[in-house]
Amino acid sequence: MRDDDGVIRVDAGGWGTTLAADTMGVLHQVGLGPDGHRAALDVDAVWYPQAFPTHGGGDPFLPSPLRVTHHDGTLSTRLVLDAATTHPVDGGVHHVVALRDELMALRVELHLRTHVASAVLEQWVEVEHDQPGPIRLHDYDSIAPLVLVDERAELVQFGGSGWADEWRWTTQRLHPGTTSLQSLGGVQPHLQRSPVALVSPSGPADEDSGEVVALSVAWGGNTRIDLDVRPGADPTAPRQLRLRAGANPYGAEYVLDPGVRFVTPTVAWTWSASGRREATRRFHDWTRARVLRDPERRRVIVANNWEATFFDFDEQRIVELIRRAADLGAELFLLDDGWFGASRPRDDDTTALGDWDVDPAKLPHGLAPLARAARDAGIRFGIWVEPEMVNPQSDLFDRHPEWVLRDRRTPREHRNQLVLDVLQPEVREFAAGVVDGALAHDPDITYVKWDANRPITDAGSSTLPADRQGNLWVDHVRATWDLMAQVVRRHPDTELMLCASGGGRTDHGSLRWFHEFWTSDNTDPVTRVRMQWACSHVFPAAAMAAHVTRWGGRPMAFACAVALSGRFGLDLDLTTLSDDETAVCRRAVALARRTQDLVQQGELVRLVSPVEGDDTSRAALGHLSADRRRAVVFAYQLDASDATPPTLRLADLDPHAQYRVRRTDLRSDEALQDAVRSGEDLLAAGLEWPCDEPLTASIWELEALDLPG
Ligand code: DGJ
Repeated sequence: MRDDDGVIRVDAGGWGTTLAADTMGVLHQVGLGPDGHRAALDVDAVWYPQAFPTHGGGDPFLPSPLRVTHHDGTLSTRLVLDAATTHPVDGGVHHVVALRDELMALRVELHLRTHVASAVLEQWVEVEHDQPGPIRLHDYDSIAPLVLVDERAELVQFGGSGWADEWRWTTQRLHPGTTSLQSLGGVQPHLQRSPVALVSPSGPADEDSGEVVALSVAWGGNTRIDLDVRPGADPTAPRQLRLRAGANPYGAEYVLDPGVRFVTPTVAWTWSASGRREATRRFHDWTRARVLRDPERRRVIVANNWEATFFDFDEQRIVELIRRAADLGAELFLLDDGWFGASRPRDDDTTALGDWDVDPAKLPHGLAPLARAARDAGIRFGIWVEPEMVNPQSDLFDRHPEWVLRDRRTPREHRNQLVLDVLQPEVREFAAGVVDGALAHDPDITYVKWDANRPITDAGSSTLPADRQGNLWVDHVRATWDLMAQVVRRHPDTELMLCASGGGRTDHGSLRWFHEFWTSDNTDPVTRVRMQWACSHVFPAAAMAAHVTRWGGRPMAFACAVALSGRFGLDLDLTTLSDDETAVCRRAVALARRTQDLVQQGELVRLVSPVEGDDTSRAALGHLSADRRRAVVFAYQLDASDATPPTLRLADLDPHAQYRVRRTDLRSDEALQDAVRSGEDLLAAGLEWPCDEPLTASIWELEALDLPG
C-alpha cells in the first residue's frame, strides 16, 4: 500500500517490506522482515539502502540485480520512482512499483504479489523500453532485498553432483564475500542445484526457533541465487547481505527490442521468525494454493515398470505386472520408456526417441490391451513420454534434422539424444501431439509421466537471429511452458508427473502444469530419507513421488516405510517378490491407503534430522491432520548409533483428546504397540524411539477416539 506520505508497505502476512522514494525519486528499502512492512520512516535518516540498485546507479562496489547496455552504448541505469499502484488479487495484493530511467527510455516495474494466508511473497521484475533499437540485459534478477545478518548467519542449499544426487543438504556459514548458487544446462538444471535456499540471518535456526528466509526461484531453466555479504562498519555493526535471485544470466545475455516486455521468473519467498517448520508450513500452503494442480486430490498409488523391466518387456510381461500390481492394491500402472519405435525398436536408449508409434514387436496389439488389462484388474493406466527430445537414430530426425537445438557445429549427443527446438512453433505442435497421440490409444489412459533426459549443451535456435542467440536460455523455458500449458488445456483431466532424469525440473514454476514430480532416480531408501527431508522444506509430500525399488539392496520393510512418507508407489519386479516381501508390500499398500491423505495433505512436522547435528543416523517425521485428530509418524534408523535415542514429541496434538496409538513396522501384521494415550501424555512423554537395528523403521498411526460423555 502506498500511504499518503509516499511510503509503499507490502504486508506479506505478518512480515514484509517498506519501500520509499527519497526527494530525488530513488527507491529505498526502509524495512524488511517480521514487521518490516510497518517500519517507521525515520526522517532524520540520510541513509537507507537502495531497494533495487542498478548497475551504474546503485552501489558501485557490488553487482546489481539489473545491468543493461542501452541502445546507444550507455552502460549505466539510474531508476527513479514513477508510480506505485496496488490491486486486490485472490488472497492478497499485487503491488506494482513502476520505475523509469532518469535519462534513457527504460521502464522497470517491480511486482510484489502477496498471498497473505500462506505469508509467501511472489516477486518478479518487468522491463520495457522505447529506445531507437534493442538494448542488452546482462543481469536480470527478480529480487534484491538487503538483509542484515550477524556473523553466525547460515545458508542451507541443495546442490548435488548431478544425476541421482538431487537435494543434497549443505549448510555453510555466510562469510563476507559472494556465494553464488548457479545451475546450468537449461533442461534438468536442478540435478546439479535446486533453485531453493534457506538463509538464517541471525545464526543457525532449527525447526521451532530462529529466523529463516526461505526462497524458491520458480524457473524451469538455469537459476542463480547470489548472496553478497559485506562486513559491518565495525565489529558490532550487522553485516549486510544483498540477496539476488532469479534466472541465471550466464551465457544468456538477453537482447530486448523496443516495445517488448521482458518478464523475469517469479521468486517466492518468506521470512519466518520461528524456525524452519513455519517456513515449510507457509511454502506447503502456498504450493497447494498457487502452484500444484488439483491439490486436494489424493495422489494415486502408482506401480511403475521402469526398474522392473527397463526396455525389456512385451505384452504378456506387462499384463502380468499389471495384474500383480492390482493384486497388491496399487491404483495405477505406469508403463515407462520403451513402448514405441515402429521402424527402429526402442530396445535401449540409442534409438526411436521421436517415433511415437507403438513397437509392433513388443506390443503387437498396441496399448489398448494393456489399458484393458488395467481396467479389468480395477486400476488405472498411465504412460511415459519424452516429447522434447529425439534420437538421431530415428525417423523423426531423418525427416527433420533441422528441428533440434544446435549452432553451426555438429551437436553433441547426451544419452544418445538431442533436444528438440521448441521455439519452432511446428516443433511445439509436434511435441504436444506426442501427448495427444499417447492418450489417443485408449480412453482409459489417464496419467502421463513427462520426462526430459538430457541437458542443453549446444545452445542455438534457427528461430533467433545471430545477435540474439543468448535469448535462447530464457525463451526456451517460456516455450516449454507454452507447450506444457497447451497439453494441460487439451487434457485437463489427465494427471501429469514431471520428471527430468529424476528430479531435474523440480521447481515451483514448471510444477504449475503438473500434479507431482519424480524426486530422483536415486531410490536407495537411506539416501531418499535425506533427499525427501531436504525437499520437504518447500514441497509437500503430495508433489514428491517416492517409489519402492531395489536400489541399495535394503530390506523391503525399510524401503516401503521410506516411500510411505512421500507420494507412495512401487517400481520393482512384483512377479519375483518372495512371500515375505509380498506380504510387506501388501501391508505397505494397505497402510498407504489409510495414511496417504494425511501424508499428502496434512501438516508436516520434522522431528529428528538425518542431515544435521552430531548424530545423523536417525530420522523421524510426522504428518498431522488439520483438525489434529489424526497423525502418522515415521521413524527411520539409517545406521548404527551410540547416541541416546531421541523421544518424539509431536507438537500440536490436542491435549484433551484420547488417541489410539498403533505402531507397526511392516515386517508383520501384528501391532507392536496398540494403546490409548491422552494427548497431554503424548505431548509430555512423547513416543519412545522404537528402532534398535540399522535399516529398520517404525510407523505410528494416531487417531483421536470419540469417547462417550
Ligand atoms: C529417467 C527417469 O527418471 C526414469 O524414471 C525413467 O523414466 C527413465 N528416464 C526412462 O528413460
